[in-house]
Amino acid sequence: MLCYGVEMLDEQIERIRNEFESDTQRARSPQDLHNKYLGRKSGLVTLLLKQLQQVPAAEKPNAGKRINELKLEVEAGLDRLESEAAAQALAVRLESERVDVTLPGNRRPAGHAHPLTLVRSEIEEIFSFMGYSVEDGPEIESAFYNFEALNIPEHHPARDSQDTFYISDSLLLRTHTSPVQIRTMQKQRPPLRIICPGKVYRRDNPDATHSPAFQQIEGLAVDEGLTFRDFKGTLEFFLKSFFSQKTRVRFRPSYFAFTEPSAEVDISCIFCSGAGCRVCKASGWVEMLGAGMVDPAVFRYVDYDPEKLAGFAFGLGIERFAMLKYSVNNIQHFYDSDLRFLEQF
Ligand code: PHE
Repeated sequence: MLCYGVEMLDEQIERIRNEFESDTQRARSPQDLHNKYLGRKSGLVTLLLKQLQQVPAAEKPNAGKRINELKLEVEAGLDRLESEAAAQALAVRLESERVDVTLPGNRRPAGHAHPLTLVRSEIEEIFSFMGYSVEDGPEIESAFYNFEALNIPEHHPARDSQDTFYISDSLLLRTHTSPVQIRTMQKQRPPLRIICPGKVYRRDNPDATHSPAFQQIEGLAVDEGLTFRDFKGTLEFFLKSFFSQKTRVRFRPSYFAFTEPSAEVDISCIFCSGAGCRVCKASGWVEMLGAGMVDPAVFRYVDYDPEKLAGFAFGLGIERFAMLKYSVNNIQHFYDSDLRFLEQF
């Protein structure tokens, strides 16, 4: 395709321009078009520039100018194509990586305190409000602390091996938290106000209300001039704070070897308000604590002077409190570690 005059050249320029126009509209890749028009060996515009040599000298400047214009147009067109292609690629990428910020997030499951821990903490709080401190004692206990120092002599029925897990003749798993009364009085001088939460063990078969391992809270107050009224007032305040101010409290005579007089403490049934239901076995009352005034015989074991001092003590089962507070009808739920149960608290 030789060219001998400006006219022919103009035709060629026009043809290439049109071709380029339609090429750009057919959305070919900018790189392909660059090769086709500006490629170093056979690009259409490149070839045209090469033909410039054959153009007569007089027409060269003019012809050169026109080819150059075409070249600039093609370059500008390619630039535009390139930026359009880049913009389109970006749009595609943004669309495919789109994040829906309105979707709900993934909540990490968070644990929380076990219901028995919640009840224990609440009871601890009520008693620390009244000035009680929290004591601790061993779960493996000696027969001396678990029984003897609590005025439970050798052949007392509570010592029966049916109730107690023995480790040896003199070592056992404590059957109640009362041995901590003795341990605390041995290391502290009165006045004394303590509670002791902890695990206790009894040879009971597991059922809806029994477990061979459960938790108690022991309480003990010792001072000069403490009376049965202090004892009643303290437990009434505690039970009303824990359950409700409307709860009525009743003290029934009972027997424990280490308290005299002893009492079992009932509350008006929180389910039927005393009218009578299945939980309170139609009596209107539910037994919550064993308690009493510290027996002088116990003071003698720890070298406290029973002539000067008086005290009261109580023991409660944490599971029992939790069952009533949360309407749980089977103690085993607390030990099953079933999240469907635990997540309710
Ligand atoms: N330790 C007794 C029990 O486990 C409860 C109790 C504690 C009674 C303190 C009186 C005083 O049954």
